[in-house]
Amino acid sequence: MAEVTSEQRGRVRVLFLDNPPVNGLGFDLRTGLMAGIEAAMADDDVDAVVIAGAGRMFSGGADITEFNTPKSSAEPFLTQVITAIETSSKPVVAAIHGVSAGGGLELPLGCHYRIAAKGTRLGLPEVNLGILPGAGGTQRMPRLTGVEAALQLIVSGDLVPAEKALALGFVDEVTDGDVVDAGVAAGERLAAGGELRRSSEVEDKIAGARGKPEIFEAFKKSIARKARGYEAPYACIESIENAVNMPFDEGLAAEREIFKRCVSSVQSKALRHAFFAEREAQKIPDVPKDTPKTDVTSAGVIGAGTMGGGIAMNFVNAGIPVTIVEAEQENLDRGLGVIEKNYANTVSKGRLSQDAMDTRMGLITGTTDMNHLAQAEVVIEAVFENMDLKKEIFGALDKICKPGAILASNTSTLDMDEIASATSRPEAVLGTHFFSPANVMKLLENVRAEKTSPETIATVMAMTKKIGKVGVLVGVCDGFVGNRMLYAYSRQAGFLIEEGALPQDVDKVIFDFGFPMGPFAMGDLAGLDVGWRIRQEQEATRPKDLRYSPTADRVCEMGRFGQKTSAGWYRYEDGSRTPVPDPEIEALILSVSEELGIERRAVSDEEILQRCMYPLINEGAKILEEGLAMRASDIDVVWLYGYGFPRYRGGPMFYADTVGVKHVYDTMSALYDEHGEWLKPAPLLKSLAESGKGFGDM
Ligand code: CAA
Repeated sequence: MAEVTSEQRGRVRVLFLDNPPVNGLGFDLRTGLMAGIEAAMADDDVDAVVIAGAGRMFSGGADITEFNTPKSSAEPFLTQVITAIETSSKPVVAAIHGVSAGGGLELPLGCHYRIAAKGTRLGLPEVNLGILPGAGGTQRMPRLTGVEAALQLIVSGDLVPAEKALALGFVDEVTDGDVVDAGVAAGERLAAGGELRRSSEVEDKIAGARGKPEIFEAFKKSIARKARGYEAPYACIESIENAVNMPFDEGLAAEREIFKRCVSSVQSKALRHAFFAEREAQKIPDVPKDTPKTDVTSAGVIGAGTMGGGIAMNFVNAGIPVTIVEAEQENLDRGLGVIEKNYANTVSKGRLSQDAMDTRMGLITGTTDMNHLAQAEVVIEAVFENMDLKKEIFGALDKICKPGAILASNTSTLDMDEIASATSRPEAVLGTHFFSPANVMKLLENVRAEKTSPETIATVMAMTKKIGKVGVLVGVCDGFVGNRMLYAYSRQAGFLIEEGALPQDVDKVIFDFGFPMGPFAMGDLAGLDVGWRIRQEQEATRPKDLRYSPTADRVCEMGRFGQKTSAGWYRYEDGSRTPVPDPEIEALILSVSEELGIERRAVSDEEILQRCMYPLINEGAKILEEGLAMRASDIDVVWLYGYGFPRYRGGPMFYADTVGVKHVYDTMSALYDEHGEWLKPAPLLKSLAESGKGFGDM
């Protein structure tokens, strides 16, 4: 049960928010806090109140699990508690440590004085959940920091360090010492005299922006690219503009209305789903939290190519030394040179200091001798996709690496069980599938082979977090979860251009849906030759009775491998990454259609979207049936972090629920009748549709 505990320190009452794990401001806590405040106000032995957090933080904000439930709309609302605090005659001090986020910062903003312990992170991250700070944050923050800073803080959702909060003006003091002691001292000081400062009454910092819509228009323009498709950033701006132009109470009431609109939106539900999905993915039923694991403090990477180099950077970015092994000195030097250039670029953009770069480069050891991996706790192989080569490497690693060391492969297509069979320690073998560029993309598909042990999984999932990635545990199949679904989607994109669309038509629909780019532009970015090589290797086993699109192969046969050759599905001007539609490709596509005897027709945007997204969902359903992903939400995490699926749509499986699984199934059935086998609805899709359920109900 959520609680507020209290402690009397002289004539100061300390109220502790106590609702693990993050002191979420749920109904019980709000009720307890209101009672605590009222009791303190009525008590003649109390001159001042301090509010602090029990446990590891002050508060992570409203209890998100209560949203859209009766508890969230039960009184006392957080705004009522905050008003009671702000209007009280006795001083109320917030003594903040750990994290102060969302409602967990709006509460301090209503206090008369705010002290933060060094190391505290504070901010209003509601925008990330598709809402706005709904307990006065958009009204009080600009009054304390001025409009520009409030816009930055609230629309970015960033948590900032205590020192920055002090500089911006929404914290009054930062302490090295015990924050509760400092809070009590401040309470005594304030009680001894002087006027209480109420944030809602501060006007000087917002007065200059009154009646100046151009400030807000300019800010909207500055975020347009990043915020494309999102509603909440604009809701935040609207409410901050209200703070400037309306009296406080009116602004607060308007904030409440905007909050209500946002919290019931599909976008907010999708973003909250994404928040919990990411955390849920870390829970593996047969690998409980207390499974023994090794803290990875040294790593090895085999292969200094694009992937190997990117993977190595993740480790050194997290302060973990890494040894990179490459067969030839020349390739090793080239690979290390690329890493150095990458860091130098970041330094030149001012996003990394030269010192930090030097430290990171200093953590990398390059060698052509695999024996240097003897002490590594984890070794990740990242050579090209060839089973014999990988087995040879794993056999060698097995002999060199210390007992207990984990041997991982960055394969994106090969059978992990077969790779594991080349070692005497299959329990310590698994796949760690990074996404390109490996130092940027947050997803890591950790692939559990048949014999991978719980300890290995626990270690690698923890390592994933340590290197700043989001890990999802998946099973062994061709392409694992992400790429297997990608095949289903890009295959249809290939068919669509043979039937009548052009790459730019497909890409536009997918871009407008919210992806950073469509499948053809993405192919050009990633390099078309990779898929071509894989298709050539798989040619012998390709089912010949199923439709196959030859266009991509033809593009490669023309020597067009994408951006790296300045030509792929599009052409690229020198030094530019902007895809330009190319008449040569259009001619090629038209000739392929003719060759295949397909009469080209107009393809609608709706058909493009459904033909691309529904097979993706359908493949996800098959993956769930086969048990290769633990939950539908894990698949969503894969697509959010590995492929840029628009977060405000929650991921493909959540998206299916929002359009209705029955609708997806009916459309797939019709498409199957028209286009055949590749579009056959998955049995799971059918059963969910027939029972009126969604993936979220599984
Ligand atoms: N409500 C409910 N549960 C929450 C929560 C919240 N606000 N914040 C975190 N949790 C849960 C997580 O789901 C997780 O649960 P499990 O252990 O079951 O997976 C647990 O608390 C711990 O969370 P993290 O693993 O994320 O812990 P962390 O230490 O890495 O990070 C944090 C802590 C920075 C607070 C992070 O959890 C976070 O960013 N939380 C969301 C903060 C937020 O968006 N607050 C705004 C809420 S909306 C609001 O306040 C509206 C308003 O205006 C009234």
